[in-house]
Amino acid sequence: MTDGFASARERAAFIAGLPKAELHLHIEGSLEPELMFELARRNGIAIPFASVAEVRAAYAFSNLQDFLDIYYQGMGVLQTEQDFHDLTAAYLARANADAVRHVEIFFDPQGHTERGVAFATAIGGITRALDDARTRDGISSRLIMCFLRHLSEAAADATLDEALPFLDRIDGVGLDSSEVGHPPSKFERVFARARALGLKVVAHAGEEGPPAYVHEALDLLKVDRIDHGNRSLEDAALVARLVSEGMTLTVCPLSNLKLCVVDDAAAHPLKAMLDAGLRATVNSDDPSYFGGYVNANYLAVADALDLSKADLVTLARNSFTGSFLSDGDKAKHLAAIDAYL
Ligand code: HPA
Ligand code: ZN
Repeated sequence: MTDGFASARERAAFIAGLPKAELHLHIEGSLEPELMFELARRNGIAIPFASVAEVRAAYAFSNLQDFLDIYYQGMGVLQTEQDFHDLTAAYLARANADAVRHVEIFFDPQGHTERGVAFATAIGGITRALDDARTRDGISSRLIMCFLRHLSEAAADATLDEALPFLDRIDGVGLDSSEVGHPPSKFERVFARARALGLKVVAHAGEEGPPAYVHEALDLLKVDRIDHGNRSLEDAALVARLVSEGMTLTVCPLSNLKLCVVDDAAAHPLKAMLDAGLRATVNSDDPSYFGGYVNANYLAVADALDLSKADLVTLARNSFTGSFLSDGDKAKHLAAIDAYL
């Protein structure tokens, strides 16, 4: 076991210091129960939990929708620009501790504007914390605004209108929330508009939805990356296409376990993805809800799938190669991985 390492402990230490990027992280999904209580108190908002332990006990999900119901409820405590700042700063401190050198984070503006919190409030707090992390810790970042796919394309279009004054702070658009029944084709026009504005485009596809949704994301949304993409493996022609196009998949192991996308860690498809030549990456998705930040995700699959040192290095390299950094910055990070070795 532990190919290339003397022990599992040595492998854990290697992961801990390995320079990496995180490409699939919903900032609202990093809201830890302790901060939820603090913000509820600060803002005079009632939450239906008596203790942190009670909150954690509620995080038992049997599918994506189970999780989303509690995720949208949880974000209700986010009211002020300072709240969004504190949320983002807390995530960035965790990322820094996990040797994350670059982050591309999602936020869900419709989850806030729908309940009367201004777009400017959310993006202002998030970007202030991103700026601080860049200055203080040297962590670079991109910000991706997601459309909630259970809402209409017209609502996504209105959200893109609201984003126009902030386009200097937004690097891309994404598509998240309830997947099945809300295919990428529903958002073809708004994604074309986003691309015309020069934004990068990504979409969650093949998490619970069929391989056809991954095809649609590629053909109709013309995505730069696929978020999750697990079910692509059911379609050999699709796998061949993803490999030949060098498409990055932002895979989220602990999320897949908590949302029952995968039955147990040993059955996780990450190793199969790497062996097929797919550009897979490891990410934490909603770490507060799914039980761990990015290094915990690396560790879970490293242990369950007995990943080698070469596999781990490939995953870290993929995280930079698949990012929206410039070629020069990618080369700098890849060289830092070489230096780490
Ligand atoms: N899938 C879809 N939508 C989401 C997720 C996810 O894992 N996390 C937050 N919104
Ligand atoms: Zn996600």
